[in-house]
Amino acid sequence: MDTEKAMLKRVIALGQMMTEMKDTDMLMERILTEARKLSNCDAGSIYKCEGKELLFSYTQNDTQQKALPLGKKLLYSTFRMPIDEKSIAGFAAYHNATLNIDDVYKLDKSLPYSFNPTFDLQTDYHTGSMLTIPMKTTSGKVIGVLQLINALDADGKVIAFNEEELPFIHYFANTAAVALERADMTRHIILRMISMAELRDPKETGAHVNRVGAYSAEIYEAWAQKHEIPETDLQHNKDLLRVAAMLHDVGKVGIADAILKKPGKLSDEEYDTMKTHPYIGALLFNDSASELDTMSQEIAIGHHERWDGCGYPGYISMTDGKPLPDKTLPNGRALGKAGEEAPLWARIVAIADVYDALSSRRSYKEPWTQDDVFAELERSAGSQFDPELIEVFLSIRETVEGVRQKYPDAEDR
Ligand code: C2E
Ligand code: SIN
Ligand code: SIN
Ligand code: FE
Ligand code: FE
Repeated sequence: MDTEKAMLKRVIALGQMMTEMKDTDMLMERILTEARKLSNCDAGSIYKCEGKELLFSYTQNDTQQKALPLGKKLLYSTFRMPIDEKSIAGFAAYHNATLNIDDVYKLDKSLPYSFNPTFDLQTDYHTGSMLTIPMKTTSGKVIGVLQLINALDADGKVIAFNEEELPFIHYFANTAAVALERADMTRHIILRMISMAELRDPKETGAHVNRVGAYSAEIYEAWAQKHEIPETDLQHNKDLLRVAAMLHDVGKVGIADAILKKPGKLSDEEYDTMKTHPYIGALLFNDSASELDTMSQEIAIGHHERWDGCGYPGYISMTDGKPLPDKTLPNGRALGKAGEEAPLWARIVAIADVYDALSSRRSYKEPWTQDDVFAELERSAGSQFDPELIEVFLSIRETVEGVRQKYPDAEDR
């Protein structure tokens, strides 16, 4: 175990790192990973407060993770429960109280809360010790609950959570709460902005952009692991990409509804108008102030380029959207950006976007079956898409389908 001073230094450094993160899903992953390192425990979950309910939002479990093949991710479903005294997490949120329980199966019957063994029964896991901490922002609002499970000693045996470490974990949980509230706000504002612009059917928009963001983040992570990108760079880029990818089609704000929401096939002329959306989107990030702006711009302008160079808009001027003089083809169009001339981020989002378009109902098409979608993407490796990224994408099919279930379209819910 760390000395107190080392532990204090660590939680302060973690606070700084969390403040820099943009995306709420990435942040929850980081929060739980670090909380589990601080307390040396096997598993944990994060619940978020939503009105009078707790939403089970994220979980980790080392024992179950180790039972999976390398690279496979633990799939879980979210659920809600009331914020009241009956459950352990509910009690912690309701009373803004920390519960440090040595053995959840030996709770005093006189307590208002009890342990729900459903998860243990379903998964053959055994929950022993449990530390449940409200996540409180500076203004005193409880935004969620951090639940840590099965503290381990040096031999991997389950023990009680150490009371002496609680002040550090509390400090950490409250710093995490502030960061999480801000990241939730970022996601909320982006979704609100996109829905105000009424891109496509407003019902569908939030789910589509969330899925494209999440698929892109997963593709990048698998690619980065294959390329042995250092973990801190991986986390940093994945966090930015999760947010930037959501904005890939913001340029559609500039397209007339008659085209955007047309029930049938577009005419050639309408399709040409539609093809200006990458440029319009890129203009919105033109005074790129941050790394996030730069990445968002690369994605907006580049997500319809193709590996074989036949995509759009190609080499155009950012001043007027016209083909660059030395990159103009005889037919008057701009030369496309082939292969790695389009940035990695754009090549990733291109795959995520088409995967989602083919899998979903659109005003102009029915959804395809998953087998057909994967077959189409595989067939388009090397022509439309970066072949290496398609290989990576095919290798994470289960994770991708898990994301689909997390963000269903309104009509399928
Ligand atoms: P989107 O609906 O998000 O589709 C994104 C991309 O997915 C499309 O880019 C295309 O590469 C792919 N995609 C979608 N449906 C199909 C399909 O049935 N077959 C194949 N092979 N690929 C498909 P694209 O073509 O550049 O279109 C960009 C945007 O233009 C689309 O975004 C959509 O908003 C609009 N659009 C394209 N075609 C039509 C159409 O026929 N009717 C209408 N109303 N909109 C269209
Ligand atoms: C939000 O509205 O802030 C989040 C919605 C979502 O993640 O689906
Ligand atoms: C469409 O027009 O529906 C899509 C055209 C394509 O990229 O194959
Ligand atoms: Fe697009
Ligand atoms: Fe799209």
